[in-house]
Amino acid sequence: MQNNKHNQLSYIDQGQGTPILFIHGYPLSKKLWEEQIEGLSSQFRCIAPDLRGYGQSALLAAQVEKQHFSMDMFAEDCANLLTDLGIREPVVVTGLSMGGYISLAFYKLYPNRVRSLVLTATRAGADSLEAQNNRDKAVDTVTHSGSRAIFEAMLPKLISPSAYANKPELVKRVEGIMDEATHEGIVASLLAMKTRPDSTLLLPNITCPSLIIHGADDQIIPITEAQSMHNSIPEAELVIIEKAGHLPNLEQPDTYNQVLQRFLRSL
Ligand code: MLT
Repeated sequence: MQNNKHNQLSYIDQGQGTPILFIHGYPLSKKLWEEQIEGLSSQFRCIAPDLRGYGQSALLAAQVEKQHFSMDMFAEDCANLLTDLGIREPVVVTGLSMGGYISLAFYKLYPNRVRSLVLTATRAGADSLEAQNNRDKAVDTVTHSGSRAIFEAMLPKLISPSAYANKPELVKRVEGIMDEATHEGIVASLLAMKTRPDSTLLLPNITCPSLIIHGADDQIIPITEAQSMHNSIPEAELVIIEKAGHLPNLEQPDTYNQVLQRFLRSL
């Protein structure tokens, strides 16, 4: 897969056809989407950036100096990338977990640039007070003990218990993706997630077709979050993928790709 770089943002741009923007979750990278890009780029133009601070993308000096990070900031980066690639037509926006928070921010900022939304393993609500406190603790951990401590605590929750026990190569792969994240990137995302607004009121106003996908064994975001988004978005479909945790596209790539392809064909 060819790696491109523009304005310190690293991305994959592969295939031709209706553009699909793939937005990864925390603390991952565009590598999260390798199977989707492999499977879909013969029919679609697949664009997958490394969000700033992840993979091979750097946070901008001005962002670090201001220490003001938000979902809107990541969404603006994605929109600027599309513009720079000459993409003016509406795109399919596909986000996983934090990538889903960014997808909702993208929709709020640029509804006319969205052909459809694919929200995987995510939620619309803001952080509870407890979750905000946990973000502060995580910032503290990264600052004093390094990112490894965060990854070790998170890894068993990212993958379903059965895959964690039986698929060491998958565990290693996810670990390898996380290892590329920078301290600054992790802190930026934690602060951005902690302060993200509640998008629940946006949901009834989403007018594009939307697909919600959730792993049956997700230990990070409960399935009820997917169900409540499904109830609130007017034109939404919900698919639960069995034998998958928080990363259903990695754990069950064939099923995930089939679900996505069927949805894309229906547009
Ligand atoms: C993610 O997977 O992107 C994050 O775990 C989401 C979150 O922490 O809210």
